[in-house]
Amino acid sequence: MPAFKTLDDLSNIAGKHVLVRVDLNVPVSDGKVTDATRIERVAPTILELAKKGAKVILLAHFGRPKGEPVADMSLSLIVPAVNTVLGQKIFFASDCIGPESEQAIAKMANGDILLLENTRFHKGEEKNDQAFTEALAKNGDIFVNDAFSAAHRAHSSTEGLAHHLPAYAGRTMQEELEALEKGLGNPARPVVAIVGGAKVSTKIDLLQNLVKKVDALVIGGGMANTFLAAQGIDVGKSLCEHDLAETAREIIKEAEAANCAIVLPVDGVVAREFKAGAANEVVAIEAIPADAMVLDVGPRSVETVNAWISKASTLVWNGPLGAFEIEPFDRATVSAARHAAAETKAGKLTSVAGGGDTVSALNHAGVADDFSYVSTAGGAFLEWMEGKELPGVSVLSKTA
Ligand code: 3PG
Ligand code: MG
Repeated sequence: MPAFKTLDDLSNIAGKHVLVRVDLNVPVSDGKVTDATRIERVAPTILELAKKGAKVILLAHFGRPKGEPVADMSLSLIVPAVNTVLGQKIFFASDCIGPESEQAIAKMANGDILLLENTRFHKGEEKNDQAFTEALAKNGDIFVNDAFSAAHRAHSSTEGLAHHLPAYAGRTMQEELEALEKGLGNPARPVVAIVGGAKVSTKIDLLQNLVKKVDALVIGGGMANTFLAAQGIDVGKSLCEHDLAETAREIIKEAEAANCAIVLPVDGVVAREFKAGAANEVVAIEAIPADAMVLDVGPRSVETVNAWISKASTLVWNGPLGAFEIEPFDRATVSAARHAAAETKAGKLTSVAGGGDTVSALNHAGVADDFSYVSTAGGAFLEWMEGKELPGVSVLSKTA
């Protein structure tokens, strides 16, 4: 892993203005934060800097306001949740650059925490515009990036600032990069990847990268149907991207060449309607009725998946195996998640999971805390699984 500086490399920061990029892009419903996980993840960095007497100035985006102020994308909405998680009252400034920010910063005492308004209210942010980056940099002495989940964006507050101020990885960024290194960078073998979810089309790059890196690739969810259909299996009314048959066959060929086992379902749980409690039956994968759809992988398939998990020293997981949001089609996902959690707890497995649906699936199975690491990143985690360079991460090593 390329070297980068961490908070351990920072000393004598009392009174220093530390700009900390965090990801506060949390789900909100009726004005309330419904999942504070991302806030909880960045709390250690914020509190550590405050405790050391820094003036902690938080930078974040919220939603996609396209370069202008949008009332319901104001970070002021997140302040109460941040106060609760930190157990400390933070201050808020209604602009991230210019006089509003400067006046708020001038009032700060050592150890205070100030959140600046949504960086994406300015067009310069997403353009990584030099003048905007300089305006942000004016407010700080030091830059700490603790937003891995926004590191796939080359924006002013995620990438640009590291060229203008001494740059450090925050604790969560550090923890995330260390976990990912154990997952695919330099993993203990055998490495097994589970990839599920609805569509192959959103995960082609990811699958192509994984077959070169892992010893076995388990394909589940709706995307398994595309692979099965590509091999001549009639998937009935199942979700299937028939136009990607050739791509699926190519991925299978690449896997063979790289000595990566592709693990596809041998049975499925089928139903005639997509709803909780729908009448269902288990069928062999060659016997999917023409009027039915596969909503989960079947019990024999789960046994195989769990056997691979037992064999593995490292597991990387993105995407559920079935339609876990509607019972009873959550069974395969829950079974594999619980088995991976048990292996991890027994010290036999390093398990790394990430991507939006994956975290909900692991929470649903009640095992998110038992994995070695669960990333809160969506797009950034996928790009990492695709083997892409993340601008917000690479700049930290380039400037280290
Ligand atoms: C996320 O929610 O995945 C990150 O905060 C990045 O947000 P974005 O996809 O709007 O850049
Ligand atoms: Mg094992």
